[in-house]
Amino acid sequence: MSGLTLKNVKKYYDKTAVIPDLSLEIHSGEFLVLVGPSGCGKSTLLRMIAGLDSLSAGSIHIEETDVTELAAGKRGLSMVFQSYALYPHMTVRQNLAFGLKNIRTPPDEIARRISEAALILRLDEMLDRLPQNLSGGQRQRVAIGRSIVQQPKVFLFDEPLSNLDAALRVQMRQEISQLHARLKNTMIYVTHDQVEAMTLADRIVVLNQGRIEQIGRPVELYNSPASLFVANFIGTPKINIIPAQVNGRQLCINGQPMFPLGDKFPVVHEGQMVSLAIRPELLRLNEVTDHQFGVFVDFTELQGDSTLVYARFGEHILKMKSSKQLSFAKDTPINFGFNAESILLFNEAGKCIPATACDGINQPGLLMGQ
Ligand SMILES: Nc1ncnc2c1ncn2[C@@H]1O[C@H](COP(=O)(O)OP(=O)(O)O)[C@@H](O)[C@H]1O
Ligand SMILES: [Mg+2]
Repeated sequence: MSGLTLKNVKKYYDKTAVIPDLSLEIHSGEFLVLVGPSGCGKSTLLRMIAGLDSLSAGSIHIEETDVTELAAGKRGLSMVFQSYALYPHMTVRQNLAFGLKNIRTPPDEIARRISEAALILRLDEMLDRLPQNLSGGQRQRVAIGRSIVQQPKVFLFDEPLSNLDAALRVQMRQEISQLHARLKNTMIYVTHDQVEAMTLADRIVVLNQGRIEQIGRPVELYNSPASLFVANFIGTPKINIIPAQVNGRQLCINGQPMFPLGDKFPVVHEGQMVSLAIRPELLRLNEVTDHQFGVFVDFTELQGDSTLVYARFGEHILKMKSSKQLSFAKDTPINFGFNAESILLFNEAGKCIPATACDGINQPGLLMGQ
């Protein structure tokens, strides 16, 4: 197992900084997920780690070794791509053997590694098939198998599930998770899908325009997003965000005093413009809570086990997720409520405003019992 260190890594294309200046430590044996919107530099970063792209500045270290100038094939890493990149005219067995033959691995060693990988990935029945006779999920397993037989120190994945349909993505996600539990290698996994990130990662790195917005365990990012960007990016349905102003220790919305701040946010100042954020599942319907306010139903989405209620609050549309099966006519007046510890505040720059410690849900670690 190997840890990795990125030190002040920069990547420019012409004069455009795709990665302006990024430092990161990846622990040995960790499942690290790089997540962010399309074009934020995830693949660029992974390709630099793999040795497929050069750095404009900075260095990459595997354990104590500086590998910045080392050729891709010598780094002991292996990458799985979104496009499976299998050789169509070769059988599964030949696809798995190809990279090993190239480095003159003895045939009995190749056979041993292939049967081991085939067992892990349940490919043993299809070793003599051509890729065209495999399903999408099976092809992706062969692509992962090709990495496993290399016995890399670190696995790199670039959106490996993006070409699969939704049901298969869920299944493959679980298989990759089990693979990590079994092999215990360091894995660096790139995705734009926040659900994949939340379910697979030991730690998530959220990237925004080549910069790290936040690093943390999935539950930390969900409960205590460091910025509006992270709050918005993590979680479906998306978090509710309402512009507000601090006035006499009250949060005013559309000029109306709505919610007393208490002593929860000691650092806000009079007149400050803030964004009030609350997760849809932390809004309550007609329940006794610290704060209540009236809204009008816009529409409801019954999702089987739960209901999403979209409601108008002045000019804003709020989403409330209930674990009950509900149905309302449009324009029905209802009451939303929330408890003081459920809200997050962000300043004008979109950074989280720290709250005083209370039994709040938005404290890191609480849900994990730490
Ligand atoms: N070879 C290249 N030449 C010029 N610009 C590139 C090149 N590769 C990537 N980029 C740019 O770098 C940015 C990040 O790309 P990429 O790392 O592929 O993003 P992601 O994988 O997060 O979607 C994009 O704006 C992309 O257009
Ligand atoms: Mg990409």
